[in-house]
Amino acid sequence: MRAKLVAANWKMNGSVYLIEKMLDVLVPCMSNTTCKVVICPPNVLLSSLKNAVEGTGIEIGAQNVHSELSGAYTGETSVKLLKEFGVKWCIIGHSERRIHFEESDDFIRSKIETLIDHGIIPILCIGESLEQRDSGTHEKTVLTQLRNGLAGLSIEDQRRCVVAYEPIWAIGTGKTASPEQANFMHTIIRKEIKSLAGKEIADNFQILYGGSVNVENTKSLLSMSEIDGALVGGASLITDDFTQIVATEFN
Ligand code: PGA
Repeated sequence: MRAKLVAANWKMNGSVYLIEKMLDVLVPCMSNTTCKVVICPPNVLLSSLKNAVEGTGIEIGAQNVHSELSGAYTGETSVKLLKEFGVKWCIIGHSERRIHFEESDDFIRSKIETLIDHGIIPILCIGESLEQRDSGTHEKTVLTQLRNGLAGLSIEDQRRCVVAYEPIWAIGTGKTASPEQANFMHTIIRKEIKSLAGKEIADNFQILYGGSVNVENTKSLLSMSEIDGALVGGASLITDDFTQIVATEFN
């Protein structure tokens, strides 16, 4: 039985005030949830979040990292600093970074290696555009991103990764993949992991769904056999909504 994970992707949103407001509502619900809960704020909020989540069971994630440990990379963040701020998870290869910052599969893979070397769990995001879905190339696109993201990792290092399937057409659009559509994609992703890393790793591998997850659709999505949690954007900024998502009972 795979544990469920709900991760908040605050993107370029949030504030010290939102951390306080969110935890006021979320922390009392932590004893009722069976999910692991992760909040990924902008990096400048990591220090505030670290202090605020102490003893709550809520874990800290980042939204990006550089593959190098230090050096002349203005504006970037080293994995060593993320560790200092208690980061245990890191979103990698989000479609917004692939699109707006032209991150390549190679760069994404090197970031994953750096994270694993430092004991941070990468949440590798993969997902197709609307054009790719309409033209029937979505399966190939997603599996290629998966293979390229994990390429060169040892089988044991593949075990240390989490994947988030996030169809680009569902991100921030209010259009969610149906539970069946998402479950199908998760099934082929798991099958590919089985061929890369073996059955035992594939069976235990966490695959999250992301793309307009909200209070209404969480239960139907997360009750699907292959969906092991959610990466939540917009709804993770609304204290009551995110708390309800975390507190949802799954079948
Ligand atoms: P959304 O974003 O929930 O606002 O669609 C999800 C994501 O981009 O991770």
